[in-house]
Amino acid sequence: MKDVKKSPFLREMCKTVSNMYRLGWDERNGGNVSLLLDENEVAKYLDPKKVKRTIPIGFDAKELAGKIFLVTGTGKYFKNVEDDPENNLGIIRIAPDGVTAELLWGYADGGRFTSELPAHLMSHIARLKVNPKNRVVMHCHPVNLLSMTFIHSLDEREFTRSLWRTCTECMVVFPDGIGVLPWMLCGTPEIGIATAEKMNDFRLVVWAQHGIYGAGADLDETFGLIETAEKGAEIYMKTLPYPILQTITDEDLKVIAKAFNVTYKEGWVD
Ligand code: 13P
Ligand code: ZN
Repeated sequence: MKDVKKSPFLREMCKTVSNMYRLGWDERNGGNVSLLLDENEVAKYLDPKKVKRTIPIGFDAKELAGKIFLVTGTGKYFKNVEDDPENNLGIIRIAPDGVTAELLWGYADGGRFTSELPAHLMSHIARLKVNPKNRVVMHCHPVNLLSMTFIHSLDEREFTRSLWRTCTECMVVFPDGIGVLPWMLCGTPEIGIATAEKMNDFRLVVWAQHGIYGAGADLDETFGLIETAEKGAEIYMKTLPYPILQTITDEDLKVIAKAFNVTYKEGWVD
């Protein structure tokens, strides 16, 4: 068996959460990431028959039974993950009953997966239906996107359009727009259900006064999605106090979509 700490998926997870921390998206234990792993790949590093312990999931995730995920631990600080992955991360398999997670590796200090696991797993279920290649769900607290939820309408068309207009890349990277939820209590099945419903239509979902969820085929793509939305939000917040003399128009948005061959949400450009 090879050392799982040297596996590409673990190394990439460590690097990703370090970068999230470095960018200020994840204060203290803020944020959580889940990565769907290939079971044949995992078998190179771990004996799939060796279950360290079982942990209740808190809802029925039977649709994901047998699937293996690398998940950040609850209460763990992203700044510490790279130096100590075994305490801060875990590799879990969803048991056949759907309501139990089988711990294959990690959470070595007796910890458990993120409190947001319902939102993660429900979002995985939703996104896999739209894109069978989806592997990642990522949650964090970027300052500018969060700030926008205090001063901007939470209408998702208007919220998205404000970001699209901040820089060319926003239309290119998230032409499918951003879903927005009003403030809700985090860590509950209810916010998981609401997030997953939005994930039927969006790869990005903002939680007002809390943070953002992103989904994608790999860690880089999902990170880049959030990074681009946050860059747009930073420009929005920085320009807010000043009179706007010029901006990206609806005509410009159409030109961008055509040039980059992307399809924007129908009716969201006038
Ligand atoms: P966890 O520490 O349980 O992952 O929670 C962090 C968070 O961001 C809650 O929304
Ligand atoms: Zn959070």
